[in-house]
Amino acid sequence: MTKNTSESLFERGSKVLIEGVSSASRGPAAFGTTPRYMSHGEGSRLYDVDGREYIDWMMAFGALPLGHAHPKIVTTVTKEIARGSHFATALEVEVEVAEILVNLLPHVEKVRFANTGTEAAMAAIRLARGHTGRRKIIKFEGHYHGWWDAVLLNSNPQPISALGHPNSPIRIPDSSGITEESWMDTIIVPWNDLESLERVMALHGRDAACVVTEGVMSNMGVIAPKPGYLNRIQELCNEHGALFYLDETVTGFRVAAGGCAELYGLKPDIVTYGKALGGGVPMAAIGGSDEIMSGLEWGKVLHFGTHNAGRLALHICKTMLTTMLDDNQAGFIKIKDLGVKLTEEIQAIARKNNKHKMICQGVNSMFQIFLQIKKKFLITVTFVKA
Ligand SMILES: Cc1ncc(COP(=O)(O)O)c(C=O)c1O
Repeated sequence: MTKNTSESLFERGSKVLIEGVSSASRGPAAFGTTPRYMSHGEGSRLYDVDGREYIDWMMAFGALPLGHAHPKIVTTVTKEIARGSHFATALEVEVEVAEILVNLLPHVEKVRFANTGTEAAMAAIRLARGHTGRRKIIKFEGHYHGWWDAVLLNSNPQPISALGHPNSPIRIPDSSGITEESWMDTIIVPWNDLESLERVMALHGRDAACVVTEGVMSNMGVIAPKPGYLNRIQELCNEHGALFYLDETVTGFRVAAGGCAELYGLKPDIVTYGKALGGGVPMAAIGGSDEIMSGLEWGKVLHFGTHNAGRLALHICKTMLTTMLDDNQAGFIKIKDLGVKLTEEIQAIARKNNKHKMICQGVNSMFQIFLQIKKKFLITVTFVKA
């Protein structure tokens, strides 16, 4: 049988790339088969090198609120690339995008641009430690904040027998090569379990620089917070002098224009954004009050980066935000309505005929399907670890 182009590319790619790709989440480890090599995208569609058309429900792990090759983004890129790709100097568009963010997000008075969600989380946690003078960070089971050592714990699904007692979860690094020293100040707590958190805060709250949480748990199924849960995390942080760090890498500019902070009425001390913010190119941001963010001044808490505030990324971001916010946030309302409709219809199918024991959960434009086959959960859509 002749190979299709994806299969031939995979054969060639596997000789020069690990698993033929550049992240385990894109190769056979995630898909259990030859990855499909994509050639181009347009609107809601992706096309592979063999000419197949796909409806793209993943949208680059949520990085494309406007879909593929949106005409306004294409025009912006075409115009701006001709004027230079990156200067690594101060830029007018940097001020303009920061102004849009500060106007949109009541909890953000100052912004620092970075490139990826991982980098932003690293800077945010260093800033929390610098600001409070405390070492410990409190993180939740099943949450992912990027692939750096201090937070790369307990983010993968584990059998319940491996997790330990909810009052004192066993810390499980998600990778080899991580030294114990790098996570010895990280405390793990089960999520959506207020009793456990209250207990941990009573024990460690005074030593904690921050509690870091995703607003909607998105790395292990789309799981919404219980009513009032995130607000209580915020209160507990305030009571103990720890910073409330909301990681909106997935949820920012997605579940609502103002992310989970808007959706659940929160006022995080530090917040990070990534994915959607870049409108398809690498772009991230750290935000917070003037007082906390001023810790970054003069590199007191150091955060550098050759590609921070890249001008092309900022121009794309400006186009994406103004387009999505136009007409009373019509773009954000549209992706929310689409996500809710799709989730409800998949749930209706599951109720009618569910021989695969399908579960579909979602929050606004985020949704995920699990197929429970032979007592194993298979993650099928919106795998978010990029
Ligand atoms: C909640 C959250 N934080 C941080 C990250 C890391 O972002 P990046 O892949 O841009 O480094 C991710 C990535 O999936 C994420 O889901």
